[in-house]
Amino acid sequence: HYEITQREASAEILPAVKTPLWTYGGTFPGPTIESRRGRPVTMTHRNELPLPTVVHLHGGRTPAASDGYPTDLVLPEGWHDAATHTGHGSGHGMHGMHDPRAVVTKLTRDYTFPLDQRPTLLWYHDHRMDFTAPAIWRGLAGLHIVRDDAEDDLGLPAGPRELPLMIADRAFAADGGLAYPALDPTLRERPGVREAYIAGVLGDVILVNGAPWPVHEVDAARYRLRVLNASNARHYELEAVTDDGRRLDLVQIGADQGLLAAPVTHASLPIAPAERYDVIVDFSGVPIGGRVRILNRLGSGRTRDVMAFRVARRAADDSRIPRTLSHDLPVWRRSEAVRVRDFAFRAGRMRGDHGWLIGGLPFDPARSDVTTRLGDVEVWRLVADVHHPVHLHLVGFRVLSRSGRPPLPHDAGLKDTISLRPGEAVEIITRFDGYRGRYLFHCHNAEHEDMGMMANLEII
Ligand code: C2O
Ligand code: CU
Ligand code: CU
Repeated sequence: HYEITQREASAEILPAVKTPLWTYGGTFPGPTIESRRGRPVTMTHRNELPLPTVVHLHGGRTPAASDGYPTDLVLPEGWHDAATHTGHGSGHGMHGMHDPRAVVTKLTRDYTFPLDQRPTLLWYHDHRMDFTAPAIWRGLAGLHIVRDDAEDDLGLPAGPRELPLMIADRAFAADGGLAYPALDPTLRERPGVREAYIAGVLGDVILVNGAPWPVHEVDAARYRLRVLNASNARHYELEAVTDDGRRLDLVQIGADQGLLAAPVTHASLPIAPAERYDVIVDFSGVPIGGRVRILNRLGSGRTRDVMAFRVARRAADDSRIPRTLSHDLPVWRRSEAVRVRDFAFRAGRMRGDHGWLIGGLPFDPARSDVTTRLGDVEVWRLVADVHHPVHLHLVGFRVLSRSGRPPLPHDAGLKDTISLRPGEAVEIITRFDGYRGRYLFHCHNAEHEDMGMMANLEII
């Protein structure tokens, strides 16, 4: 049982300046929670922020009542119900709440997570309708790791050699505050700001676990890096490069929803917002005192650097990467699918303004979009105009194809977020099992999500 107070706090993220944040429990990221598979966890959230919030455990197999539906609010004390129906301050992308009856509000809320699922790295973050992007940007994000005995017994690097890495870009104003252009009246009217907001907000400072471009000391040994792209909109293609320009292998052992069947070796790994990779990097061949830089091949200038490791000492290493990692990876055949659905993720108009739409429609909590039966297997065909990382709540899925071709090497394993590249058509397959209730699927470019690119997924 965890008790988390959502409150304002400030942190020294950049040297000698205080940055005001919205936090889970006073820190950014919030506290990292470690759980065991099948052992339920309750988080009691108390909201002392000046506005309503919603908590979602990304990647969790969670009953709908605790899944953080965008109108299922935790209210701060003294907040008037009526105010939640209009929201305020977004300045763009507001589409209001069409059905006030859908709004559930509480002052504190217990979220209960059964965690009856494959062990993996989960992410808890805000999910309030229309305001998810600025809330995550200001700090409402934390990690939750689920483990089990089978994974512990594999002999993977562990303890100090297992590092969760939450990568997120941010922009800072001159006074040290986080600059979120669409909410800042002094920035909002500047040329290009609106377009940048529509595309998704980017920062020029790369934070890893809340620190800018950190340098981490490591042994000359194998490490397990559990990477989450917690950025609102930035895509990365990560590589590990030594001082003498050598690329270290990124040995992928897991995806969004846990271990792969067998490791896959990459020279570089693309990671879209909300995707996770579980990766082994071996520092044993790096000279003592040498550095390994984690670079973003899609970045330029300061956003090319992500972080660095400094190899500090020789050390024994009894870790291993088993050739078989897991046996329980679901495989669904096309022939099992009871239906095929098509969804287009495209720009459009939303109440006279720019919107991001699924199947031509912006999110409406009162509309029913997808209804499926518990246990049904379905194939979904997703097409995109620009880059959209699409996320399904509740279920993991496998990638079947990309524009008629086989999935890419990094599509291996069980995913909950798929990076749709511009112009691409991707097929995924899943079984809708777990719980009945109302869930969501959406683009995880957080600005696109707030501008309508979300839909209801009802499991009956
Ligand atoms: Cu990261 Cu709807 O979630
Ligand atoms: Cu989610
Ligand atoms: Cu998108």
